[in-house]
Amino acid sequence: MIKFLNELSDLRVQISGWKRNGYIVGLVPTMGSLHNGHLSLLSIAREHCDKVVTSIYVNPTQFSENEDFYRYPRDVNADLEKLSSSNTCDLVYQPSNMYHKEHKTYIVPNGVALNLETENRPHFFDGVSTIVLKLFNQIQPDIVIFGEKDYQQLLVVKQLMRDLDLPIQIVAGKIFREKDGLAMSSRNVYLSENERKLASNIYRVLKLTRKKIQQGFDVSKVIKNGIAELGSIGINQIDYFTLRDPDNLERLTQFNKDSRLLIALYVGTTRLIDNISVPLINNGETDIEN
Ligand code: PAJ
Repeated sequence: MIKFLNELSDLRVQISGWKRNGYIVGLVPTMGSLHNGHLSLLSIAREHCDKVVTSIYVNPTQFSENEDFYRYPRDVNADLEKLSSSNTCDLVYQPSNMYHKEHKTYIVPNGVALNLETENRPHFFDGVSTIVLKLFNQIQPDIVIFGEKDYQQLLVVKQLMRDLDLPIQIVAGKIFREKDGLAMSSRNVYLSENERKLASNIYRVLKLTRKKIQQGFDVSKVIKNGIAELGSIGINQIDYFTLRDPDNLERLTQFNKDSRLLIALYVGTTRLIDNISVPLINNGETDIEN
């Protein structure tokens, strides 16, 4: 039976009981509307931990005024069903009151939090870092699992943990994709049937661009071609499509080390993000899926 808790006081009783028994506690923070990508992170937690917690909370402080906070998909009953049938979780924490009225403290990350997502969503990582730290303090996990789907977020959380000396281990989960390559996301439900088909081209173009980069073509030209390719099928609004250092997200104009290709764009009115690793290979051959 999965436990379902809303109150911090109840959560603390449960977690301290587990800690007294010496259990290793794992956490997968989510905003709900769970899909197989989330469940894949929970399976990783199951492997590493004695007890697995998932939090479900649509965090208002990481949305800006013009974003989709109010229409973000929420269906806790469906989430609980998926969690029960996957048997990957022991406790669901859906806090009823996360920020009290006088909440005044925010984490403002620099470093890997600057640029990319921040260019279009200036306070996004302040909100993410603040809620993540609150969840870590409330749940006291030994291990947390974050997805590479939100690659910059993963690095921001790693940076937060390093800079603030959090005694927690972080494990990264690979991107879980639909059959046609589209990265699973709670926001995919916003796509119309036609937009959904178009969206499968994101991964196709990412893979094509990776191949050309690995073959030694000029990085900026190859990315321009990728943008043109997406434009030709009607995906014209691209926030960024860029090759970066996988650890600090510095821009790379030349391919001479393992890299990460990251993209953010709109399909219709829906903003989607994706990314792919671009490993340096010596023999000129690769077929890596993530
Ligand atoms: P959410 O978008 O619900 O994602 C929760 C976790 O699932 C994140 O670590 C995200 O990277 C991971 N995830 C999402 N789609 C995935 C996929 N297709 N494959 C693998 N992992 C995937 O990210 C958030 O919520 C919030 O910002 C949060 C960290 C909960 C803070 O509010």
